Amino acid sequence: MTETDNLPLFKILVADDEPSTLAMYKGVLSPECIGENGLLELNALETELFGKYTSIFLPPSYELVMCSQADEVVDAVKASLKDNRPFAIAFLDVRMPPGPDGVWAAEHIRKLDKDVEIVIVTAFSDIDSKDISRRVPPAHKLLYIQKPFHPQEIRQFTSALCAKWRLERDLQVYRSNLEKQAQKRTLELSAVNRQLELEIAERRKSEERYRTLVELTSDWIWETDENLVITEADPKVKALLGYDPDEIVGRPLSCLISEDDAERTMVHVTSNRGPFRGFRSSKIHKDGRRLVIETSGMPVWDGSRIVGYRGLDTDVTAKVRAEKERQELEKKLARAEKMEAVGALAAGVAHDLNNIMTGIIGYPDLILKGILKDSPLRDLVTNIKKSGEKAAAIVDDLLTLSRRGVPVNEVVNINAVITEYLDSPECQKLRAFHPGVEVERYLDPLAPSISGSPIHIYKTVMNMVSNAAEAITGSGRVSISTRGRYIGEPLDVDEDMKAGDYSILEITDTGMGIPPEDISKIFEPFYTKKKMGRSGTGLGMAVVWGTVKDHNGHIEVKSIVGKGTTFTLYFPVAGPGASHDRSKA
Ligand SMILES: Nc1ncnc2c1ncn2[C@@H]1O[C@H](COP(=O)(O)OP(=O)(O)O)[C@@H](O)[C@H]1O
Ligand SMILES: [Mg+2]
Repeated sequence: MTETDNLPLFKILVADDEPSTLAMYKGVLSPECIGENGLLELNALETELFGKYTSIFLPPSYELVMCSQADEVVDAVKASLKDNRPFAIAFLDVRMPPGPDGVWAAEHIRKLDKDVEIVIVTAFSDIDSKDISRRVPPAHKLLYIQKPFHPQEIRQFTSALCAKWRLERDLQVYRSNLEKQAQKRTLELSAVNRQLELEIAERRKSEERYRTLVELTSDWIWETDENLVITEADPKVKALLGYDPDEIVGRPLSCLISEDDAERTMVHVTSNRGPFRGFRSSKIHKDGRRLVIETSGMPVWDGSRIVGYRGLDTDVTAKVRAEKERQELEKKLARAEKMEAVGALAAGVAHDLNNIMTGIIGYPDLILKGILKDSPLRDLVTNIKKSGEKAAAIVDDLLTLSRRGVPVNEVVNINAVITEYLDSPECQKLRAFHPGVEVERYLDPLAPSISGSPIHIYKTVMNMVSNAAEAITGSGRVSISTRGRYIGEPLDVDEDMKAGDYSILEITDTGMGIPPEDISKIFEPFYTKKKMGRSGTGLGMAVVWGTVKDHNGHIEVKSIVGKGTTFTLYFPVAGPGASHDRSKA
């Protein structure tokens, strides 16, 4: 690329019918004639106007197209536009006989090219400037030079108009680029806007969705700072815990939690570095009620630092109560079903067995009478009798279980029943079997009588004393005590316990104890830890349970493995007549 490739080459059209005038133009506009001063002037002008120096005028060179007729002018302009090399200036003589005049040419070329600078070269006398201005707009692109002109004038006009023409074109390009850019940017912006509008609408929708969901639940949402001081509480806290939000904002979260649960809850909330769910704690309603609350929450992070906690509390008190009730009912049902099954079984066989047992227990006595005292058969027959008696006892237990709901309308003095059992041959046998076991009795003579079934109370005492003795290996102690007591508040054992006077029977042993997980099982029929059918049948405690329930009583079991067990039986005391004690007689 040579230096001249960069130079602007302005195309100048000159029209005059005088060949000498055309030659003069040529002479004036050749580069050598412009001179250094002219260029410096142009550059200075550019710097002043645009604040920069681009050297577009260094050195300008002109391409001259000469015409002597107006129609040639129009053709030349057409050709230049076709080549995409339009004229910067057209110098037009007015009179160019024999063809149309310069004004006609100006009118036509203006229609073809709106940018070309038109200079009418004329003696003012032969034109009507108003008429020309109207025919060849715009006025700022139309000039007049009066003939005869000075060559210097032509040179100045050319430089100035070329510069003007060039700047106008650059400006047009610049403006159209700017417009294109602005259009592009506008399109981009409106796309971004549309996207934003969509996002906002989506967010609004989801916010709305969450809000309605949150409003639908009865849960309340809280927020605390990092020290667990409440910073936000939604109004539903009123329904749940009885407080207005501004009553608790600014107070520690722990003020809502029951004292015995506060520390555990705080530790749980703060020890989680991520979300947690379904943490149960007990919170206290403003009115003092204790509620079971399930909390889901999470820490609030600022970068890598925990700056607070956020959570949602759900009241599950009713749910927990219902769960507990259901479990209780299920337990009761299972027990009732078992008892019923046993009852059906027992009722089916026990009655027949009982008749058969009469023979097995009765006949050995007759046989013994008929054989010699030293006969080896005596021991065998005696064994048959003992086994028969054991079997009869089991049948008897089964019958007792099957006949639940026995009448409990006799006045029973528990002291008398205990004494009767302890003095019975059965008890003598038991004690003979457990020689290391001491049996102590602490019977309060003021213990009130109850209304009940003496036979069943007797069996209860018997079963519990034998279990106590059997729980002792080697030596130990079984104590039986009675007392009367007024109970105002239900005991832990049984929420259903009614306030009133109770006659209490307590049997304590220093035996092996019962592991906590077994305590609820020992009352089930056929539950035994002894050798089934030999030392145990698993029916004893079932009989005790059935009896106590038939008497509307309650049982409390306290046991420490390796130390011993205490069974406390509460029998409600009958009405006034009951104190008259018939069973003593
Ligand atoms: N005083 C006690 N000390 C330790 N365990 C006991 C006591 N009373 C009852 N048990 C436990 O309860 C179970 C059931 O007792 P029970 O119904 O009388 O059946 P059995 O005596 O035939 O095993 C016993 O096997 C024993 O494990
Ligand atoms: Mg037993």
